[in-house]
Amino acid sequence: MSENDTRFEIAHLARVELFSPKPQETEDFFTRFLGMYVTRRKGQSVYLRGYEDPYQWSLKITEAAQPGMGHAALRTSSPEALDRRAKSLGDTNIEGKWSEDEFGYGKTFEYQSVDGHQFALLWEAEKYVAPPELRSKILTRPSKKPLSGIPVKRIDHLNLMSSDVTATKTEFERHLGFRTTERVIDGEVEIGAWMSSNLLGHEVATMRDMTGGHGKLHHVAFYYGTGQHNIDAAEMFRDYDIQIEAGPDRHGITQGQFLYVFEPGGNRIELFGEAGFLHLDPSAETQTWQMADIDTGLAIGGAALPWETYFTYGTPSPLSLDRHIETYSHFGPGAELPTDTEVAAEPVSV
Ligand SMILES: [Fe+2]
Ligand SMILES: [Fe+2]
Repeated sequence: MSENDTRFEIAHLARVELFSPKPQETEDFFTRFLGMYVTRRKGQSVYLRGYEDPYQWSLKITEAAQPGMGHAALRTSSPEALDRRAKSLGDTNIEGKWSEDEFGYGKTFEYQSVDGHQFALLWEAEKYVAPPELRSKILTRPSKKPLSGIPVKRIDHLNLMSSDVTATKTEFERHLGFRTTERVIDGEVEIGAWMSSNLLGHEVATMRDMTGGHGKLHHVAFYYGTGQHNIDAAEMFRDYDIQIEAGPDRHGITQGQFLYVFEPGGNRIELFGEAGFLHLDPSAETQTWQMADIDTGLAIGGAALPWETYFTYGTPSPLSLDRHIETYSHFGPGAELPTDTEVAAEPVSV
C-alpha cells in the first residue's frame, strides 16, 4: 500500500489504562473534578468515560504499586484495517497477541512499542447507550453533560517519553499510517514528534526521555474544546490542592491550549482547551521546530514548562514526584544528570 492508503487506517485513540497507587483518589479526581462517569467496576479496576466519549469507557484506572500507563488502544477505521495494521507490525518481528476479554471491546491486537509502551489495536467497540435519565437532547452527545466539577468531553491524546524519538515515530508512521505533523530537532537529533492519523494535530506524541529511561508515559490529555475551561479548571485545582505543573497557556507546537496537572496517583494529566491546528491539507509537510524557536513552540504566552518535571518526569518513575522534584531541581539544558543512583534505575514495572 502507498503511504496514502495507510493514512486513515487508524481512526483515533479509543482508551487508556492508567495505573495508580491511590486508586480511590485517582477515581475521585476524574469523577469529581473532571466529571467523568463510572461505567463499570471489576476487580481492582474502574472504567470511566467522558460525556462525549462514544464507547463504554475511555479510561480504566487499575490499582498498582506504581503510577504509569497500563496500555493504550487505538481504534482502526475498519475490521480489514485492523488485520492489515496487525500484519504490518507482525511482519517486522514485533510480537503481538490477539485477545478478546476486555469490557466493551472485541478482538484486540496487543503489542509493545519499540520503546516498551503497551499498545493495542481494535475495531470492535460497544457504543455507550445512556439510561433514560442520562440521555442528552443533543443528538451527537451520548450522555448529558454532568453537573460535577468542570467536565471533560472525551479523551484526546497521549504523549509518550521515549529513549529514541525517531524510532518511536518511525514505528507509528510505518505500521500505523500516522503522519508526523510537527517535530523538534536539537542539532540532528529529533527530541519530539507529534503524530496524527486524522485531522487533529496529534493523537500520539513522543518526547525524548532526558533521564535516559524508556517506556514511560508523559501524559494523557482530555478534551474541553474551550480555552476558558482551562482557566476555570486551574482555579478549581488550585483551591482543591491538585498539583498544577504548568499553564494555562497555548503551545506553538500544535497550537493546543494546555493545563498540566498531576492526578493524586502521580500521573501527569493534560487538560486540552481548543483543539489547535487542524490538518486539512493532505500533502502538508512536517513542520520542524529548531531549538532557537523552542520558547514559542512550548508556550506562546511564556508559561514555564519546568525542567525538574516536564522534561524529566514520567510514569512509572523511579522516584516519587516529590523526590523527583527535589533531585532534579538544579537540572537544566546541558547539565549533567543528577547522580542519585535511583535515578538511573529502570522504570519499575507493575
Ligand atoms: Fe499533550
Ligand atoms: Fe501539551
